[in-house]
Amino acid sequence: MNKKLTKNSTKDKSRRDFIILTTCAMAGIGAASSFWPLIKSMNPSSEVLAMSTVEVNLSNIQEGQEKKVKWQGKPVLIRRRTKQEIDAARAANVESLRDPEPDEQRVYKGKNEWLIMIGICTHLGCVPVNHVTKDGNGWFCPCHGSYYDTSGRVIRGPAPKNMAIPNYFFLSENVVVIGKKA
Ligand code: FES
Repeated sequence: MNKKLTKNSTKDKSRRDFIILTTCAMAGIGAASSFWPLIKSMNPSSEVLAMSTVEVNLSNIQEGQEKKVKWQGKPVLIRRRTKQEIDAARAANVESLRDPEPDEQRVYKGKNEWLIMIGICTHLGCVPVNHVTKDGNGWFCPCHGSYYDTSGRVIRGPAPKNMAIPNYFFLSENVVVIGKKA
């Protein structure tokens, strides 16, 4: 009799464990599926991602020319630098700069002629204009007199930092996309 009781209670315990486990699993699946729409809504949609990037055709920009495009409400300068401008940027004494940054870190690997940067002065946010020197084209901010070299690095004036480099990538030889890769 006692043996039968023990056997039955073991059976009951296994059944109870099974029911608890199944209930927990179902509750877990239920919770996950109810949160899924929320989690999904936190990821940017493909339209939002498309709006956050700008595709630019570079084929009509000659050496020594630049194009200005708008990206996320900011002006982005795309300059096809001359050899002289690249050489001047590479010859600079990086350590002596206010915001020491080698030119190599400011351009896409293997595409030294393309300088792509946000054309906003890092002092108080004016838009610098072209400033031609013996080295080629740099930039000058007329608001309070900051100067930037052929790599967009600050060389004089109150600006504390170099002009910023946005995220970008090349889709092909002549097409660049400003913004983050999806
Ligand atoms: S905003 Fe450019 S120097 Fe002040």
